[in-house]
Amino acid sequence: MIQKPRGTIDIMPEEMPYWYKIEQTARKVSALYGFSEIRIPTFENTELFARGVGDTTDIVQKEMYTFTDREGRSLTLRPEGTAGVARAVIENGRCSDAMPLKLFYIINCFRYEKPQAGRSREFYQYGAELFGSDSPAADATIIALAKAVIEGIGITGTELHINSIGCPDCRPEYHSKLREFFTSNEAALCPTCRERLKTNPLRILDCKNEDCQKLTEGAPKVIDCLCAPCAEHFESLKSYLAASGIDYIVNPTIVRGLDYYTRTVFEFISDKIGAQSTVCGGGRYDGLIKQLGGPALPGIGFAMGMTRLILAMKACGVELPGSSKPRLYIAPMGEAAQREALCLTTKLREAGIHAECDIVGRSLKSQMKYADKIGAKYTLIVGEAELESGTAILKNMETGEQSETGVRDIDALRRLLV
Ligand code: HAM
Repeated sequence: MIQKPRGTIDIMPEEMPYWYKIEQTARKVSALYGFSEIRIPTFENTELFARGVGDTTDIVQKEMYTFTDREGRSLTLRPEGTAGVARAVIENGRCSDAMPLKLFYIINCFRYEKPQAGRSREFYQYGAELFGSDSPAADATIIALAKAVIEGIGITGTELHINSIGCPDCRPEYHSKLREFFTSNEAALCPTCRERLKTNPLRILDCKNEDCQKLTEGAPKVIDCLCAPCAEHFESLKSYLAASGIDYIVNPTIVRGLDYYTRTVFEFISDKIGAQSTVCGGGRYDGLIKQLGGPALPGIGFAMGMTRLILAMKACGVELPGSSKPRLYIAPMGEAAQREALCLTTKLREAGIHAECDIVGRSLKSQMKYADKIGAKYTLIVGEAELESGTAILKNMETGEQSETGVRDIDALRRLLV
């Protein structure tokens, strides 16, 4: 038997109510915040992620699904949505639109990571991006949107962790502090981080290697090295969050795994879903659009992992109605009745009523068993006698009540199917 590739998931019908709930809530709340939906390609030129996400990140160095197409172009399955959305904004001439430009997306992403609960190689994100404002009020807005969606799907008890990782003005000083800190332990770092020590020491802080993680304890904190404008932005954000009644924890260890971030970074963390506890991650990326060839246009956004949201919904006891049950099951006996039953079923469906009839040739007894199994509220047996008289007995499966109805009179039947 051919099995699914490692790290992919099958989403079976029983799970769909959770997906619908997340997607419907995300669309509804995004619209309330003035965000419009965008769809972007599943694969992009590899260069987009190398430049956007950053070629010293774990994502670009270790986790991308990159392939060469028949013309020899290097393409990559998107590992996230922000770089693609930023590219689309530039490419479609939207940088000169009235700002802010507010977009959201629901997409699948691909990262070659070690699969575990809440972490897969193909995964799904709901994300939102806000372009054209460098005000901390935009940061507070995007955080409020994320919180509203998380709460709207019934997840309780998450913590919002915020931090600032500075800007190109204050980052160099922080980098030299990190270099100083790690140099004495250089030999204990993984080979990638030894290289990162030279190119981008901030990335050592989110390396997934356990030895590197241990070494980061006691490392200088970026929040202690912010320049005055970055410190002011962060203070201002905190005051906006407080004014909006949004609780937060300042967590100086949050640096995020993507290179485009500047200033604000944040995560919503759930204590109910195990090690992969970040249900939402985001931050400001004021240099990204320029980096990708557009004008100097600031941005901020987030993305949520949908399978992690579902784990958290289940842990919070969120219960959702299952799939719809048929109002009527028609049991035909004989070929002529089968034709009539099929026609009646189609007409009822056209009238917006969920009806089913036998299409596998079961005996009457097993048809009744099946009707019970699928939870049909009413059954209607149609045989030769019923075709001749034009009437049949409609049975309410819950109460056992029976009533006579015309077999071809859709309106009469509809009135009885309450
Ligand atoms: P990220 O932190 O890499 O950020 O991913 C965002 C969220 O996607 C994570 O918090 C997690 O819930 C989920 N996620 C990530 N990787 C996996 C995985 N392998 N399996 C399951 N879920 C996963 C970004 O992707 C940024 N683009 C977010 C952003 C948007 N920043 C600004 N705008």
